[in-house]
Amino acid sequence: MKLLEVKNLNVSFMVEDEKVHVLNDVSLDISENEVLAVIGETGCGKSVTGSSILRILPENANISGEIYYNGENILEMPEEKYRLMRGKEIASVPQSPSTSLDPLMKVGDQVAECITVGNRINGKEKATLKGVVNGIFSKLKLPRENEMYDNYPCELSGGMRQRILLSMGIITSPNLLVVDEPTKAIDWVLRKDIVKELKALKDEMKCAMLFITHDLGAASIIADRIAVMYSGEIVETGPADEVLNNPKHPYTKGLISAMPSRGLNVMEGYMPSFTDTFDTCRFFPRCTEKTHMCDTQIPKSFSINEHHTVKCNMYCGGN
Ligand SMILES: Nc1ncnc2c1ncn2[C@@H]1O[C@H](COP(=O)(O)OP(=O)(O)OP(=O)(O)O)[C@@H](O)[C@H]1O
Ligand SMILES: [Mg+2]
Repeated sequence: MKLLEVKNLNVSFMVEDEKVHVLNDVSLDISENEVLAVIGETGCGKSVTGSSILRILPENANISGEIYYNGENILEMPEEKYRLMRGKEIASVPQSPSTSLDPLMKVGDQVAECITVGNRINGKEKATLKGVVNGIFSKLKLPRENEMYDNYPCELSGGMRQRILLSMGIITSPNLLVVDEPTKAIDWVLRKDIVKELKALKDEMKCAMLFITHDLGAASIIADRIAVMYSGEIVETGPADEVLNNPKHPYTKGLISAMPSRGLNVMEGYMPSFTDTFDTCRFFPRCTEKTHMCDTQIPKSFSINEHHTVKCNMYCGGN
């Protein structure tokens, strides 16, 4: 049994009486200890996928499909039961230090609070907890790890604050960690270090991870498998080395060519608007490999092999 199995997830938002369909039949799965990276351009639906799993979508969202965690559909779980699981079994790393850290609270207390969740604790418990938090800080290679606890966010650099957020995700030793763009605002050298540290921690803690990113370089460091998302659809899924070295979907090929290490050839065009309706492949206007059938036929998923699937007409018997 898979640890997480998302089946035919559809999410739409009501925006001024109009239903905007964002996620279209998204299916993915994650095994225990496995890291699945979901990659794609800005606005393609990565965070909406993560928020669906965490059940933190805003009120104007409509959701359908199934999300199984350890065989139980979490979309049908009572809120109370899911709340007990979130944070302990399934945890997340908040996206932005500037909005997720309280400027008036010591960073150590903010991390410790992820365990105590508002419960009062006595002095002895607090001292033990401080030791646990300092242990996580040292694993994340935070400088002066034993003094870090008493710092306020404004006293730390961007990279340190980012590591504090990671600490908040892993302190409860979850089975599944949803990490949304942990390194978006930091430079590549630091980003590489943080992703490597996260990988080492994940290997030690043996947790699975949904790693959301627009950055294939970061995905290549940490991911066992990669799911490529375009305009609210998963267009390719496979083992990370196969997707990176032998991509099948023209969009995946475009993302890889745009990597700095592969020539920085940025793809032309833009993702379509979610208010558009589609009776073609969504990538059709930007595709450099389109054929006569692509403007009339919506592609279906095709298995390249047991572990690698692609949603593209080229592989569906037409070319
Ligand atoms: N509450 C909402 N109401 C209406 N539309 C929304 C809402 N939340 C998200 N969307 C839309 O859903 C689409 C997908 O958003 P999402 O945040 O998942 O993108 P993303 O892939 O995470 O992008 P980024 O890389 O910039 O973080 C976007 O077009 C966004 O505007
Ligand atoms: Mg996002």
